[in-house]
Amino acid sequence: MEKILVLDFGGQYNQLIARRVRDLHVFAEIKAYNRISTEQILKAGYRGIIFTGGPNSVYDPASPHYDPAVLDLGIPILGICYGDQLLAWMAGGEVSPAARAGEYGKTELTVKAHPLFRGLPAKSVCWMSHRDFISRTPPGFSTLAVTDRCPCAAMGDDGRRLYGVQFHPEVTHTEYGGVILRNFLFAICGCAGNWSMEHYAERAVEKLRAQLSGKTVLLALSGGVDSSVAALLLHRAVGDRLRCVFVDHGLLRKGEAALVERTFRPLFGDKLICVDASARFLSALAGVTEPEQKRKIIGEAFIRVFEAEAKKLGHVNVLAQGTIYPDVIESGKGDSAVIKSHHNVGGLPAVIDFDELVEPLRELFKDEVRRLGETLGLPRELVWRQPFPGPGLAVRILGEVTEERLARLREADAIFREELAAARPDPMPDQYFAVLTNARSVGVQGDGRSYGDTVALRAVSTDDFMTAAWARLPYEVLERASSRITNEVPGVCRVVYDISSKPPATVEWE
Ligand code: XMP
Repeated sequence: MEKILVLDFGGQYNQLIARRVRDLHVFAEIKAYNRISTEQILKAGYRGIIFTGGPNSVYDPASPHYDPAVLDLGIPILGICYGDQLLAWMAGGEVSPAARAGEYGKTELTVKAHPLFRGLPAKSVCWMSHRDFISRTPPGFSTLAVTDRCPCAAMGDDGRRLYGVQFHPEVTHTEYGGVILRNFLFAICGCAGNWSMEHYAERAVEKLRAQLSGKTVLLALSGGVDSSVAALLLHRAVGDRLRCVFVDHGLLRKGEAALVERTFRPLFGDKLICVDASARFLSALAGVTEPEQKRKIIGEAFIRVFEAEAKKLGHVNVLAQGTIYPDVIESGKGDSAVIKSHHNVGGLPAVIDFDELVEPLRELFKDEVRRLGETLGLPRELVWRQPFPGPGLAVRILGEVTEERLARLREADAIFREELAAARPDPMPDQYFAVLTNARSVGVQGDGRSYGDTVALRAVSTDDFMTAAWARLPYEVLERASSRITNEVPGVCRVVYDISSKPPATVEWE
């Protein structure tokens, strides 16, 4: 399989580079610069290498550098931003700090005729973000593009097929960024562009089959997209040596536990272990109102239930997790402030008796995981499921979580989801749900006064859930949802719509 190496020097757009390459049907692998040697690069048979951006200055001895032998492997290289400067530095050029200010944001780029820029007009807009400049191009390189402030906005050595661009072709603000990447992959690296999700699935299954030959594998199945796709992939590879444990904590949305069972039982038979632990979770949550405490209790109880099930199975060779690429990146980010203690299966490895950890989705982005799910035949309902927090409805009930309040929220949430599914507003929000607030208010229902709960509806549009805008839903949808909820859910007499964006609010209420 043809593949491209994205050699990571710590820039903020590195995931995006890999994404763009895969979108062009060439597989891209990201490796940190200090985790792969030139020998390993040669052995892996990459068609090309992209040096990513990064926040450092190459002339600072503490900045990330790489073995200059990489320039002579005969593999084409494209350096981006810091990667461009590093390439210049390694090849004997000069990099200096800007005399005045750096160059940031949209900038007019003037390119020369060159295969890297085939299909580009002489002038177009690119996205710049740099303080240092290449002040002297290295021997053998010529300047291929300039901007007003940047005398070397792109350079190349056609003999060795080494290229660098100071701007960021991977971001959409660079008008012809996709064309430049395509030129690098196809015209310069000679890629054929025949990578597809079907190929990926086939290769991933083959690889897992070889790696897991004869071994038993245990997976925590949550019914979310990631663990569901991981389950199908692993099942193709190891068949009934896969055991999946699905813990129903009683905090799921309406019909969800049944959907998981309906989807996986026919495939996995008795190797799917469904545990109804709702009573245990509810009693652990009794009287608890503080959001972080709820999360901690649920995380802890989840680990204990899973541990007990795993003990019944005895020793397993492999513990599998549905970690995806953004999780890998996030966890590598160090100590950014904890806003909410996210519940995931991170605590499991400590309590399970196993030899090996396998994360078959580690290289994939969320929408790639969905595409893989479709390729593997996962039902659409599961493939397109919205994100759902590990602690479930407990963080959508303000105040104490009781069976009665759960039932109330489940109904209200199901109505809101049904109404949105029926109306399909364009654009469809990326996440939408109901919250049971702890505000009680007076209403008039039937002939009398009522005093009941307030349900809040939440819908957001977002690319990455780091920031989110409240969704401008059509009034008719809100009206139908409100009317149905107050009519059909006993105990609710008021519905409000949440018009807070993130930040300052978070998506979930707790
Ligand atoms: P917040 O509320 O932090 O949510 O703005 C951002 C996204 O993360 C989801 N979320 C969670 N996902 N475990 C998860 O796996 C959690 O504990 C958790 N808390 C929030 C939330 O639904 C939204 O999509």
